[in-house]
Amino acid sequence: MMGFGGSGSKKEKSGELIIEDITETAEDLLPEAQTEPAEEGTASEPEGRIIIDMHHIVKRYFIGQPNELEVLHGIDLQVREGEFVAIVGQSGSGKSTLMNMIGALDRPTEGQYTLDGVDMFRAKDRDLSAIRCLKIGFVFQTYNLVARTSALKNVELPMLYAKMSPRRRAKRAKELLAVVEMEDRMKHMPDELSGGQKQRVAIARAMANDPALILADEPTGALDSATGRLIMDIFHRLNKEQGKTIVLITHSPELAEETGRILTLKDGMIVGSRKGAGHP
Ligand SMILES: Nc1ncnc2c1ncn2[C@@H]1O[C@H](COP(=O)(O)OP(=O)(O)O)[C@@H](O)[C@H]1O
Ligand SMILES: [Mg+2]
Repeated sequence: MMGFGGSGSKKEKSGELIIEDITETAEDLLPEAQTEPAEEGTASEPEGRIIIDMHHIVKRYFIGQPNELEVLHGIDLQVREGEFVAIVGQSGSGKSTLMNMIGALDRPTEGQYTLDGVDMFRAKDRDLSAIRCLKIGFVFQTYNLVARTSALKNVELPMLYAKMSPRRRAKRAKELLAVVEMEDRMKHMPDELSGGQKQRVAIARAMANDPALILADEPTGALDSATGRLIMDIFHRLNKEQGKTIVLITHSPELAEETGRILTLKDGMIVGSRKGAGHP
């Protein structure tokens, strides 16, 4: 099977998929990263630099005074490049809120957050949009494809925002759809696709700008277990073959167990962290 294409020019083993450097036009959209010397890790720590670095993240919602609702109570979270981390916890425990903070979809109320070297508290709103577009691939339980827009155009969208030329983004979108085995459906609209097929398109879209980080919020939550298995296998491939860092929210203990690390969230706090068994 073909790969998803990594950073920069890269020729896959099969020779079929050549991904051009997509960052040349888009890089100037990003704020400058504060590059710090890599810190010395102890032998037991996973390798790779820290990509998600959160300290004491608090999130409060203000739902009409005096109703202030504190949803996250001081989250410390470090995730290294290449890790596959699962977040589990009961409904309402704050998983999606945390994911929205990690993905810069929303800002924390307090704390410190550095994403891939960028201080997210100092970043302006337009910086956050660029970071979301170029560094992060989002996958949601409800797919969030754009309606009445073909699978191909859906996958092209993030590349359009990254100012890639029409010819190049069409080419890359087809390649990405081929990887998730959806190229024969590229002209189809979302409502003509099954849930599993929609999610495959959504994953291809998440990969469009070759992000460093993939955030998936219950991506298999609406799928039957066989289809969920297929989606999970795609994530494992992205992690193993492309070295993508993945944070996955799931209700499935079995799927969580397949990742490298399992974090348990309860009432807005991380109450457990343990190693997973990894890919079966
Ligand atoms: N925009 C919001 N305004 C007010 N409260 C919210 C908002 N989003 C989430 N919450 C509350 O935050 C808590 C955590 O929600 P969420 O992060 O969606 O949990 P989970 O994803 O673990 O099910 C819930 O009590 C929810 O009602
Ligand atoms: Mg949720």
